[in-house]
Amino acid sequence: MTENLRPAPRPLGGLDPAEFLRTYWHKQPLLIRGAVPDILGRLSPHRLMALACRDDVESRLVRSSRGRWQLEHGPFDLQRLTQLPARGWSLLVSGVDHHLPYAARLLQRFDFVPYARLDDVMVSLAPPGGGVGPHFDSYDVFLIQGLGSRRWEIAAQDDLELVEDAPLRILKRFTPQQSWVLEPGDMLYLPPRYAHNGVALTPCMTWSVGFRAPSHQEIAAAFLDHLHDRLDLDGRYADPDLSVPSHPAELPAAMIERLGRVIAGIRWQRRDVIDFLGLYLSEPKPQVFFRPPRRPLSLQRFAERAQAKGVSLDARTRLLFHGRTFYINGERVPAAPGQYRTLVALADARRLGPQALPAGVLPLLHAWYQQGYLHIG
Ligand code: SIN
Ligand code: CO
Repeated sequence: MTENLRPAPRPLGGLDPAEFLRTYWHKQPLLIRGAVPDILGRLSPHRLMALACRDDVESRLVRSSRGRWQLEHGPFDLQRLTQLPARGWSLLVSGVDHHLPYAARLLQRFDFVPYARLDDVMVSLAPPGGGVGPHFDSYDVFLIQGLGSRRWEIAAQDDLELVEDAPLRILKRFTPQQSWVLEPGDMLYLPPRYAHNGVALTPCMTWSVGFRAPSHQEIAAAFLDHLHDRLDLDGRYADPDLSVPSHPAELPAAMIERLGRVIAGIRWQRRDVIDFLGLYLSEPKPQVFFRPPRRPLSLQRFAERAQAKGVSLDARTRLLFHGRTFYINGERVPAAPGQYRTLVALADARRLGPQALPAGVLPLLHAWYQQGYLHIG
């Protein structure tokens, strides 16, 4: 009933994704020439600059001169960006996949990695000589050359000491071991903590496909918040056996014992962990706001149009699932009978073709459409 719509080919130059994951993912770098042959011309420097001027877009401007680095956060003034000097800067724009349909489709081509691990597409722009300096990232990254050429130098060094007092993470020492010049469409995969330095040889745009790798501290703190919001304990402190204390200011040993037992009794199940992960990982980033349709269609009109044209998730929507429970933009939605297969197809392909919508799923899709989570066509 549902149509499985496959995105454009995976950007692995014909390498089997299972082989890529086995041999390279988290293990060693890989250069693939012509991995994304259709990338050239998809985004102009001017359009990227215009994105960096929006307040719902995260952008940074890195400037360097005689070994000194400066970092500024956007939004920027367009005139200022168009008048930047001929050398010594790099403009970085995150979440380009939220604003450029091509970038959203590009991200989806990396579907050999679970969506729960995908982060966003960042695009950088630099004049000849520009870059963000030698550094390492804590997560895997695919660096795709989008415009012009850039020399990438990389090193598997253990010495990851950073320059002190620099506003961005710059390696104190960097000894390149391998180097390539990337041309439009070429792609370099780097595992986490692999030292790298990209220097533009011509006016240059690099697209980075990044992954989410939350620290254990971040995940544990967020899980405790999740539990806190759902905590529902009976009972209240009582001490019918109280005796007169020798030091009234001292914490009573019986109190420590009793409340220690209450705290040690806090338990969670695998179900809580799944719910937490679904809600947490589908939660939109803070700058994301969904725009509901200005004049929403009635359920019946929506159903007719959706059957005729199909539906697609908004580029900012995160839809994940486990079992029969779906998590969309930080909300939990258990699938009703008759909805499951369609929702799985929508979550995987992020769109559904015409005629692919059983009647039982239309009220839910209509509700998501009214929230701006999905669109017709
Ligand atoms: C860049 O595009 O200049 C930086 C990307 C990176 O090194 O992660
Ligand atoms: Co990097």
